Amino acid sequence: MWRRLRGFPFDARPRARSGEIRFSPSRMVYPSDCFTFFFFLPGGGKEDHKNIPLSFFLSFFRRIVDVFYSQNDSVFFFFFFVSFLSQQQNMTKPGKGILAMDESNATCGSRLEGVGVENTEENRRRYRELLITTPDLGKHIGGAILFEETLYQSTKDGKAFVDCLNEQGIYPGIKVDKGLRPLANSNGESWCQGLDGLADRAAEYYKQGARFCKWRSVVSIPSGPSKIAVTDCAYGLARYAAICQNAGLVPIVEPEILLDGEHTLEETYEVASAVWAETFKYLADNNVMFDRMLLKPSMVGPGADCPKRNTPEEVAEATLKMLNSRVPPATAGIMFLSGGLSELDSTLYLNAMNQQPNPWHVSFSYARALQNSVIKTWAGDDAMVGKAQAILSRRAEENGLAQLGKFNPDESLANTDSTFQKNYVY
Ligand code: 13P
Repeated sequence: MWRRLRGFPFDARPRARSGEIRFSPSRMVYPSDCFTFFFFLPGGGKEDHKNIPLSFFLSFFRRIVDVFYSQNDSVFFFFFFVSFLSQQQNMTKPGKGILAMDESNATCGSRLEGVGVENTEENRRRYRELLITTPDLGKHIGGAILFEETLYQSTKDGKAFVDCLNEQGIYPGIKVDKGLRPLANSNGESWCQGLDGLADRAAEYYKQGARFCKWRSVVSIPSGPSKIAVTDCAYGLARYAAICQNAGLVPIVEPEILLDGEHTLEETYEVASAVWAETFKYLADNNVMFDRMLLKPSMVGPGADCPKRNTPEEVAEATLKMLNSRVPPATAGIMFLSGGLSELDSTLYLNAMNQQPNPWHVSFSYARALQNSVIKTWAGDDAMVGKAQAILSRRAEENGLAQLGKFNPDESLANTDSTFQKNYVY
């Protein structure tokens, strides 16, 4: 069996024998998880559940596997790895990206208040229900990142959000970091907290249905960036990714280089080079599996206050040059954040990047660039739910086309207003 596992990035058993245990996944992952892997293969599909003899065979097969699984390390590791792969693969299918809807209660609250809706738990739930129940959302969205509160919430009719997402073939994800804090002895830089107790929390989130997770660390160009801030960002991301992979969650590694500032594209390139190099160094040091993680960087462009603006082609060229020089091809997907770009720009930039072949799935994991017009249209009015959902569908479709390099701006309904906010906290 171990010989068969050699293709995986590491081989846990021999190291464990030599006393150097580098990987110890929890038994939270169940063999049934990798059934989605088979369903998502060409020709497969959730409809297979409707086939009674097949369902019968699968449940029988599953029982046998469960018995082996609980008694045999080799079977356990095999399914652990296969289930990982299926999670990552559904989110990186052609034409698909991720919907980031994991704003903290404070940030979601300020968005709600911005459209005249009070920041209450019920209003946050109502808004998230609108997003999650958008018809056909799964056509272009493979994963949705949730805030902890949302992971445990349900629709007005009592259906768990997690079930709504799974029915559309969308993996539920979870933001696991605990937010940014001031970095002592720095020029107003920050660090990201949340490693304490993370393994236990990740296990709980997995039980609740989460299959991937996100940790957002930021680097500010005008405030430094200092060596210590970059190292802290990279090290925190790597520790988080290692812990969450052990819990069966596919980690999104998000080193965001903030848009705040007057820096040029060239200056962003220099800082991004340092940040991505350091991030991948620590990921490698921590034995994180690149093919079972997703990178979520910002695009390499000018700061929000830089007088010189660049074309989508220039941003795409600089970003791809950076990806090619820093990111191992094994990395499963590059899912960009929108970071304050307008809806249209974020789609144009992504489209320009996908005009040429590259070894990764280059796609989107936007919050503001997918949701901005949606929340403004809804503004708390139940009668506007359908219209707001149609906008979200359209935004997802246009970004899905950009993932394929087939977006046509002349046919776009995307808003051109910047979504940038100074000192934005997520
Ligand atoms: P934006 O697309 O609004 O930057 O948000 C993405 C995200 O998830 C930030 O962590």
